[in-house]
Amino acid sequence: MIKLKNINKQYDLGDTQVNALKDVSLTINRGEYIAIMGPSGSGKSTLMHILGILDSISSGQYYLEDYDISSLPDKEQARIRNQHFGFIFQSFNLFPELSALENVMLPMSYAGVSWQQRKKRAVELLCEVGLEQRMNHLPTIMSGGEQQRVAIARSLSNDPDLILADEPTGNLPTDKGEEIMEILEEFNKKGVTLVMVTHNPSQGERAQRVINLRDGVLQEEKIGGGDTCITRL
Ligand SMILES: Nc1ncnc2c1ncn2[C@@H]1O[C@H](COP(=O)(O)OP(=O)(O)O)[C@@H](O)[C@H]1O
Ligand SMILES: [Mg+2]
Repeated sequence: MIKLKNINKQYDLGDTQVNALKDVSLTINRGEYIAIMGPSGSGKSTLMHILGILDSISSGQYYLEDYDISSLPDKEQARIRNQHFGFIFQSFNLFPELSALENVMLPMSYAGVSWQQRKKRAVELLCEVGLEQRMNHLPTIMSGGEQQRVAIARSLSNDPDLILADEPTGNLPTDKGEEIMEILEEFNKKGVTLVMVTHNPSQGERAQRVINLRDGVLQEEKIGGGDTCITRL
């Protein structure tokens, strides 16, 4: 589904540069469940931003279904992002002045879906994540676990091919984090491709593939929870 080839990402900080990703090549196949691990500052979030076309690459190629999308205009990239990707962040990133229902409906309005359809889909998704009683509540009166469930429902609203979750349980107590993992894994079983950053090795082991980053370099992959392989790419 996605192929990254020799991606480099530099951040310019005036007189110095940070090489956040160095020559990263990676293939993501439809339906996979991939964990990205590595120390703080190793480039995990940068890789997620690149995968989600939230940030530009300095060099290399990004293929989505064999189309090189790195050189497309911003507007076209935004359309692809809205249609193909769902995002989940450590800090939930919900709109505080919108109800759970309105937060989930919002990405569908950018995609031109009618109000009735948006509402129907948002209600369905909020039920699927167990928030049928909380639909009309504002995020500010919800627990962290509930807010993250709203964020999961929102990320799925446009039927994405790929969910990008950057430390989705990082701000949650262990038991609530476990609930979030189970919900995400349930959607992966239904066919949504899942790429998740985690600091937690026991969470990482649950994925089909584990990708390790160190100082911006993709190091090795563990496949099938145990066997270490040299990256095949
Ligand atoms: N917007 C930015 N501007 C400058 N440097 C950044 C920016 N974002 C990340 N970096 C730097 O890039 C490196 C990788 O960061 P990041 O991808 O956030 O790592 P991780 O998510 O693994 O903690 C770090 O050295 C970080 O300081
Ligand atoms: Mg990060």
